[in-house]
Formats: sequence, structure tokens, C-alpha cells
Amino acid sequence: MSHFNQVANSWDTPEKTIQNQKYAHKITSLMHTPINSPLKILEVGCGTGLLGSQFVFGNNQLIGIDTSAGMLEVFDKKFNGNINIYSRLLNLEEEDLNEGNFDLIISAMAFHHLKKPESMLFKLKKMLSPKGVIAVIDLDFEDGSFHPDPKNMGVHHSGFSEETTQKWSKLGGFSEYSREIVNTIEKNDKNYPIFLSMFFNS
Ligand SMILES: C[S@@+](CC[C@H](N)C(=O)[O-])C[C@H]1O[C@@H](n2cnc3c(N)ncnc32)[C@H](O)[C@@H]1O
Repeated sequence: MSHFNQVANSWDTPEKTIQNQKYAHKITSLMHTPINSPLKILEVGCGTGLLGSQFVFGNNQLIGIDTSAGMLEVFDKKFNGNINIYSRLLNLEEEDLNEGNFDLIISAMAFHHLKKPESMLFKLKKMLSPKGVIAVIDLDFEDGSFHPDPKNMGVHHSGFSEETTQKWSKLGGFSEYSREIVNTIEKNDKNYPIFLSMFFNS
């Protein structure tokens, strides 16, 4: 059983919920599209939907995709009965979603699990609405000590430097890009900064 299937039922904590409220607030403050308009949202590596759930209001639509059936089971229970929300068990690195025109694509702590995160970003850009935006939250580049067992946890990258995300923006042809540190995770007496990068379509 994959790591995330094992931890799915105990993944959510009040601390993580509060932190994701802060992330969502920050993303909202950086968006150009008024947040009160109905948004079509995709969450990549949604897990249990901790971040996506912060955008579930009004007529917003949310599609969560993830490779862990266990995490999606928790996601589905959370949004049971809400016709605007659904999940798909899908590895977008290998398959297509066949959906597009997203106003907002969000991803928290999932890009370091991707084999080719820059290819994912370029693929996601094609799924955006003309004024859409991609918000990526992940680990700043670290020394590899964040994950105790990277191989079994499906970790492919030890975070990403500012230089890296800037390069992604340039190569992807985004019209605007930003990056800032939005959190610091303390683990084994070490501090791991967490960044938010916003990639604007136009
Ligand atoms: C560290 S968890 C983060 C979950 C959630 N975003 C959160 O912040 O609570 C990483 C998630 O990415 C998912 N994941 C890993 N590789 C993936 C891939 N190729 N496509 C989609 N999701 C993936 C995992 O199953 C897991 O749910």
C-alpha cells in the first residue's frame, strides 16, 4: 500500500486546516480575477482537499486529482453531496483529464512528488482559462532531510529554488510570476521554508 493510502485517514489536523486557510487567503489576495465570481478550480495532488476546500463556496466548481485512492476517499467523504465537487484518481503526468478552461489551478506540497514538475506546469497552462492562474505551494530547495524515507514516499525533488520556479515561468511563457515564502515547517530542529508561486496566463 502506498504511503499516502496508509496515512490518509489521519492526514487532516486542525493545524493543517488553519495553515491552508492562510494559504487560500494569500492566493486570493494575489489573484486578479475577483474571488467572488464562480471559479472553475483544479487541485493537483489534492490529497484530502485541505487547500481546495477553502475555495468551496458559492457556485465554485472544484475537481481534485490525485494518485492515492485512500486520500481521495477522504476527499470524497468531505464533499459528499456537493454536485460542484468531484475527484479523479489520475496521474496527470501520464494521462489527460480532458477538462479545461480552469480559472484557478492549485497544488500544495505535491510538485516534489512529480517526476517532471516543469512539464506538469506547462501542461496545466494549456488547461487554464485565458485569465487563469496556477498557484503552486511547495518546499523551498532543501538538503533532502525533510522526508525521512523519500524513496518510499514517492519523493522526486528536494523542493525547488527561486531560480527554478522563475525559470519555469520564463520557459512556460507566463505573463506574470511571483514567489514568496508563506510558511515555515519546523522538523527535527530544522526550519523548512514553504513558498507560494503564482503563474499568470495573461
Ligand atoms: C504531501 S501530499 C499533499 C496533499 C495535499 N495537497 C495537502 O497539502 O494536504 C502529496 C499528494 O500528492 C499526491 N501525488 C503524488 N504524485 C502525484 C501525481 N503524479 N499526480 C497527482 N497526485 C500525486 C499524493 O498521493 C499525495 O496525496
